[in-house]
Amino acid sequence: MNILTFEGGFDKNLCYLVWCQSTKVAGIIDPSVEPDPIYHIINNEGLSLQKIILTHSHGDHTVYCDRIIHRFPSAIIYGFEHLESPVHDGTFSGVRHKSIIELGKIKLTVLHTPGHYPDSICLWNEQEKHLFTGDTVFVGRTGRVIGEKSDLTQLYHSVYNIINRLPEDTIIHPGHHYGIKKTMTIGENIQTSTFFNCPNLREFSSVMDNFEKNRRE
Ligand SMILES: [Fe+2]
Repeated sequence: MNILTFEGGFDKNLCYLVWCQSTKVAGIIDPSVEPDPIYHIINNEGLSLQKIILTHSHGDHTVYCDRIIHRFPSAIIYGFEHLESPVHDGTFSGVRHKSIIELGKIKLTVLHTPGHYPDSICLWNEQEKHLFTGDTVFVGRTGRVIGEKSDLTQLYHSVYNIINRLPEDTIIHPGHHYGIKKTMTIGENIQTSTFFNCPNLREFSSVMDNFEKNRRE
């Protein structure tokens, strides 16, 4: 499984080009950055871009979706079946918890992880232990729940009952570069961040409140 990371977009967004080495089938996870550098890799590696996968429908994560679809009109756009903001162009395929999205021989299991946003999903490659987390989990902290459709209790459930129960050596690939490095394992996040080792919802709520109070930007 090949993963190339591109940083840019609205706010240190991270976009991923993922492809299967043997079949050359590729997908883009979160079309959030100017796509010309991605096109170069697709050309140079001889890849077939077949899927665009949205971790959620916040605009900064989907902003280049239309442009990429115009360039690769046969690609299918994947996202949660009840997408808050429908895609404009291209063919959409809705997924749900435990759906499998294939990229050649690569299997990505969809985990529905609402909280930051109702249509948030994570994409889990169990074989090679990678997890694309969108804005649900970053390096060092979780996503925020200040939006109108955010839900703290749902985020707690998604983080503690779904993500933190995956193998601890799973590498997370978040939707923004907000941490000390771009990736980290789930275990490192649990060991080093108060966001990930709260004993209960009340404690998690207070960690989240403190973060918002002390935020500078
Ligand atoms: Fe978001």
